Amino acid sequence: MSGPTGGEPLDIAVLGAGHVGLVSAVCLAAIGHHVRVLDIDERRIERLAGGEVPFLEPGLDELLTKARSLGRISFHAKPDALPGATLVFLCVDTPNRPEGQVDLSSVVSATHAAAQHASDGAVIVNRSTAPVGTADYISSIIEERRGRPLPVIANPEFLAEGTAVRDFLAPDRIVIGTRKEADAAPLLEAYEPIVTRNLPADLPEGVHEKAMAGPDTVPVLVAAPPTAELIKYAANAFLAVKVSFINEIAGISEELGGDITEVARALGLDHRIGPHFLRAGIGWGGSCFPKDIVALQGMAETRGLSARMLGAANAVNADQRRWVIRKLQQHLKTLVGRRVGLLGLAYKPMTDDLRDAPSLEIAAELARLSVQVRGFDPAIKAVSPDAEGILDTVDGPLALAQGADALVLVTEWPEFRELDLAELARAMREPLILDGRNFLDPEAVRTAGFTYVSVGR
Ligand code: UGA
Repeated sequence: MSGPTGGEPLDIAVLGAGHVGLVSAVCLAAIGHHVRVLDIDERRIERLAGGEVPFLEPGLDELLTKARSLGRISFHAKPDALPGATLVFLCVDTPNRPEGQVDLSSVVSATHAAAQHASDGAVIVNRSTAPVGTADYISSIIEERRGRPLPVIANPEFLAEGTAVRDFLAPDRIVIGTRKEADAAPLLEAYEPIVTRNLPADLPEGVHEKAMAGPDTVPVLVAAPPTAELIKYAANAFLAVKVSFINEIAGISEELGGDITEVARALGLDHRIGPHFLRAGIGWGGSCFPKDIVALQGMAETRGLSARMLGAANAVNADQRRWVIRKLQQHLKTLVGRRVGLLGLAYKPMTDDLRDAPSLEIAAELARLSVQVRGFDPAIKAVSPDAEGILDTVDGPLALAQGADALVLVTEWPEFRELDLAELARAMREPLILDGRNFLDPEAVRTAGFTYVSVGR
């Protein structure tokens, strides 16, 4: 079987079947390669082998089904599936420790597996977001364990949840961190159909559209590993700072009588600023921004530097989540015994991810103030045991509105634009809605009988 550009398919192993690993593996199979996915979580491997994707990511199911039917992907719980792979991708979790340092234990154990089982000539590709210096650290572990080196490349991922398939197959850029360009040859060969936009015809919605909107070939930046590693952190930090910036201006706008959506639109039309990541709201969350900003701050601090912009972005974000509490206090006066419904729980739409979701922090704070909190999310049917007791889930917006004193739109799921607002208003004790994402049409909400409160206007 040959790849879509006519090139030979490569034999690739992906260590780690989390979000980044699975999306990378399935997309590499979609462009013609043979991929073996390894994870120490046997249950996850079993489910994947049965065709079940363990999280919501649009388009991934469809590509997995196709890759399985073509025999291009397989799942393994043991590292003996590693030998023979030309490329070994490390896609493991790098959580922060409570003290803020990055916990590299998964990277270290994946590296041990690679050192022991990868074939000579294999190239190790680190896609896990890890501190500057990690590629060199991986190299040293491999050399020590094997007694001889393998090339190690830092290849940061820029996959946003909800659009990860599109971001993999039609990226804005590819960053390759290596000290010897020749080492990157097999990786560039693997990415060739992506770089030259020579993608298979039948791909999930949005992939070809994004590819066509970009330049004819995807820019590939080759730099030393520390530079590549820093690019990843700087990109996430910049986006988080941009969102916190617009949220800070939103607070000022709210006081001065401006409309932040108009301000953001005008700013975005300036090509030096650009329109993205200027949506004001209750702040950023998820598995990446909060963790990566703190990690980058930590890296600066260990060198005696103070990352003041990152600290400020974090502070604005924490304050932004409190916006909900402030507005509820302002409108309901007393909060004790009130019922509040959260529309949306995931940290952003098109995902079922609750990691560092504003919803959980808001629910915990409201529960502490003796508010009864319920939540509805189209993709989340139950919350983790940690959140039990602070938040009950219900099965639809109407159940959420029943007898509630306020609704808070936390996640901008497209279907929330189709709500029967008049019906919701009738079901509530107080028809009050806080639009934490400036997502609803203010006129329509007011016409339905609601008091409508939004961010920065
Ligand atoms: C982010 C980056 O966008 C990816 O490029 C990166 O690869 C990924 O982290 C990662 O490090 O793995 P993700 O966290 O999935 O991806 O989602 P984003 O779309 O970037 O949103 C992050 C947060 O910012 C969300 O909470 C979102 O609600 C918030 N946001 C975003 C705003 O509040 N306003 C905006 O205008 C944009």
